[in-house]
Amino acid sequence: MCGIFAYTGSKKAIPILVDGLTSLEYRGYDSAGIFTPADGVFKAVGPVVELRKLLPENANGTSGIAHTRWATHGAPTAENAHPHADQNEILYLVHNGIVENYKELKEELLKAGHTFKSQTDTEVLAHLLGVERGTASSMDEALESTLQKVRGTYGLAVIEKAAPSTIYAAAMGSPIAIGVGENEMCIGSDATAILRVTKQIIYLEDGEFAKITPQNYEIKTLDRKITTRAPEEIEWDADTIKKNGFDHYMLKEIMEAPEVLENSARGRLLLTEGRANLGGLAEHEKELQNIKRLVIVACGSAYYAGVYGKYLIEEYAGIPVEVAIGSEFRYRAHIPEEGAALLAISQSGETADTLASIKEAKRRGILARGIVNVVGSTIARETDLGVYKHAGPEVGVASTKAFLSQMEVLALLALYLGRQRHLSVERAIELGKAIAELPTQAAEILSKHEEVKVIAEKYKDVRDMLYIGRKYNFAGAYEGALKLKEVSYIHAEGYGAGEMKHGPIAMIDPLFPTLAIVPDDAVFEKTISNIEEIKARKGPVIAIATTGNTQIKELADDVLWIPKAIEPMAAILAIIPMQLLAYYVGVAKGYNVDRPRNLAKSVTVE
Ligand code: G6P
Repeated sequence: MCGIFAYTGSKKAIPILVDGLTSLEYRGYDSAGIFTPADGVFKAVGPVVELRKLLPENANGTSGIAHTRWATHGAPTAENAHPHADQNEILYLVHNGIVENYKELKEELLKAGHTFKSQTDTEVLAHLLGVERGTASSMDEALESTLQKVRGTYGLAVIEKAAPSTIYAAAMGSPIAIGVGENEMCIGSDATAILRVTKQIIYLEDGEFAKITPQNYEIKTLDRKITTRAPEEIEWDADTIKKNGFDHYMLKEIMEAPEVLENSARGRLLLTEGRANLGGLAEHEKELQNIKRLVIVACGSAYYAGVYGKYLIEEYAGIPVEVAIGSEFRYRAHIPEEGAALLAISQSGETADTLASIKEAKRRGILARGIVNVVGSTIARETDLGVYKHAGPEVGVASTKAFLSQMEVLALLALYLGRQRHLSVERAIELGKAIAELPTQAAEILSKHEEVKVIAEKYKDVRDMLYIGRKYNFAGAYEGALKLKEVSYIHAEGYGAGEMKHGPIAMIDPLFPTLAIVPDDAVFEKTISNIEEIKARKGPVIAIATTGNTQIKELADDVLWIPKAIEPMAAILAIIPMQLLAYYVGVAKGYNVDRPRNLAKSVTVE
């Protein structure tokens, strides 16, 4: 989720590149860099304004490449910022995506005597391209042979010092487009930057690469067949583009679920072996094997992800798990226990209460691990080891895609810890396959978003709402209610379905609806009984159920369907319709769902 921009023409490149980068900052903003063959390379940590301070006023270059980074490999430092050069600094490259086999490639290059300045997968790509360029007759040929050796995703732009006005781009699973101007051309990872130069745009398809000069563009497939395509005109304004055409970041981020569920598991599932390959844990295998008890600490949505993780880790890895809210954990008396470990979950990696809990645990000599989205964030640095979520930046204050990726990473962790212990290969393979199916299943749910909108319109004026779920869906009930509270200001409560009879059922009447998460699972019949109790008191019921279940259709007033999946994965899928429901209710009530009142995206105070 970084931003790429490149320009070649007759105007001074640096101001154009900076302007383009600024418009891309919403995609990632922990560091930025620019290279122009005429002026050299400039990199800075932080937003583009920091980079701006380093740039020469008398720059002359009329072509260059630029990048704004959201770290995935290596902390956000100037060394890790793009562009990266090859060993002999004959070419510079900017890259979005993840090179899955970068470690193998890097080892081979190290053996051949290469030295690396950064910890990034991108620098490995630059070096590899440099090697191929040395023996190839053209850059086309070098790019072709390099990209054939790469596994993973990329959107990239490359410039060679020896041919300063020519820029190459390639795309595979990460968007790249070309902007076609009058005697100037550009390349962007999305249209926002391109719009600064021209409205004429051509998107590259996966497996295509392009060559641009100020006067020409050429698009080829990786086997170098030329494809001809005329540019289209960009119709959106910059703000709409940032939201990818959606009205709000929240909807855009909900709609990104398939991509996020793909990215968080990318390269991490060894399906045939039934194992999870979590790079950040590999060096600590022994310590992880010795864990006897796990304390998960988190706040807000991340806490609910932790509650979900408890069920998973206990079932699949057999490790007792306690889940604590960050602001409570630090004030409790801690009974020292051998084999205890702490797991912090945080999207931002900056939440003060979670951070304080980590510090407290470390002071007591407990191993601290993290599941964090923002690479290089304070929590990522404070924990001894961890797993990044690779969910990309989340702009909407109410967490949506980051929450889903937290759940998925917890499933990967349960698989990892389970296989270190008693988990059978068969069950591990079953779980692994179910994780791999999530992106397609998420896309299927999202394709029916209009149905959720209709239900949202129907219930938008209620004063209160109850969310119930059991076992793997217990946490989901709380998260669903939290989402509705956050963006629609409707009073919503999450509850364990079995607890209804101990209090909440007293509130039920025809004006008090309940959302019941009731997929086909081990507690289906039990939850059905709870729904029957609600219906007997004339309470309206919206159910989230497995496609094809006829029993629920008879019972509930409205049903949101999710595809059939094993219990823990159905719980992940059930989150998506609840996110959509909260979104559509909030919008129907006329609220700014991206910036709910009184809330902050990252709470860095106690
Ligand atoms: C804030 C946000 C929530 C988030 C919580 C924890 O309250 O509004 O969406 O779940 O902080 O944030 P973290 O970054 O630690 O996951």
